[in-house]
Amino acid sequence: GTKSFTSINKDTKDLPIFIEEWEAKAKEKMDKGSFDYIRSGAGDEETLQANRSVFQKWTILPRVLRNVSLSSANTILYGNELSFPLLLSPVGYQGLADKEGEKAAARAAAKAGVPYIASTVSTYSLEDIAAAAPEGNNWFQLYWSRNKEVSASMVKRAEKAGFRAIVVTVDTGLLGWRKSDYKNGFVPLMECLGDANYRNDPAFQKSVPNWNDANIVAGIMDNILHPDLNWEDVLFLREHTTLPIILKGILHPKDAKKAVDLGFDGIVVSNHGGRQLDGAISSLDALQLISPVVNKQIPLIMDGGIRSGADMYKAIALGADAVAIGRPFIYGLAVSGEVGVLSIINNLKKEFELTLALSGEVSVKDITADNLFRQN
Ligand code: FNR
Repeated sequence: GTKSFTSINKDTKDLPIFIEEWEAKAKEKMDKGSFDYIRSGAGDEETLQANRSVFQKWTILPRVLRNVSLSSANTILYGNELSFPLLLSPVGYQGLADKEGEKAAARAAAKAGVPYIASTVSTYSLEDIAAAAPEGNNWFQLYWSRNKEVSASMVKRAEKAGFRAIVVTVDTGLLGWRKSDYKNGFVPLMECLGDANYRNDPAFQKSVPNWNDANIVAGIMDNILHPDLNWEDVLFLREHTTLPIILKGILHPKDAKKAVDLGFDGIVVSNHGGRQLDGAISSLDALQLISPVVNKQIPLIMDGGIRSGADMYKAIALGADAVAIGRPFIYGLAVSGEVGVLSIINNLKKEFELTLALSGEVSVKDITADNLFRQN
């Protein structure tokens, strides 16, 4: 049989197709503080811009006449099948974009057959998110808590609720220099009055002497910022879960090597969407440095600037097993809730499937550096 590469579904034809259009519509719908918080990067946004412009350094070198009629984009990650090599990156406070927030996004990811990574700083608790998409491939992203018992407790709750992997974000010991948030006086934690994962955590509850909003917010701030975090601290999680532990926010190949040597189960090559260290290397360049060092010993996921099927293809050719998106699905969520997120994912899937086939390859594992040409 010949595979048909379907175009846009009838029921989604009134939705935007261009990411820029989703973004413009999201901007119209949201208040300025929330929209700027989502769109912006740290400092002068050099890293945010580099995450996009770096893709132009690479072009795809296609093969022809290879019968791609049965080409397929599905892939396996930690024993689970993904309909194509995409994940939704952890993004905090999705209630800013939509009333159903994380629950709507997790449902869309489950329907599309891709993993949803729930952030520690969510507007719904991890238990509520899991219950909204029980059949989904849900992962939990941990912001390390200074109080180790809180970190262990959250990880145990996530495992109990059916999450399939733990992603520990390691680039956020201090918050980046977020100029537009400072200008707008926007503090997301305040907008959402704390967050559900801390509020519902027994270890956290025990650590707050007087249970009122001010003390809860102070307690969260005290736990989240931890410039003293080190490799041994994170290894402590191994005693509390059997799930894969993946480190998110690695850019230096020496750190990638250390992650492999210490037995971590995966890496998300990421600069936090240009929101932390401005001036940092773009995610795609970092991936190019890291993939030969990791050399397929553990899975590599990359995020930052992925907006098209071609972007996905280039990252996979440079060694990623899968890629993730942040802002695009939040714009979909803001414009049309679950339907918007699903539309964003499905269009990216169609575009990626076409990119794969038009490049002359039939499966994700066939995409290699041999399919890329570096511009001068
Ligand atoms: C993020 N990111 C993020 N990362 C994380 O580990 N935990 C979090 O809670 C958040 N929160 C968050 C909020 C918002 C509004 C954005 C835009 C991003 C970073 C995110 O996981 C991812 O690394 C980037 O968004 C990927 O870049 P793109 O796809 O947005 O270019």
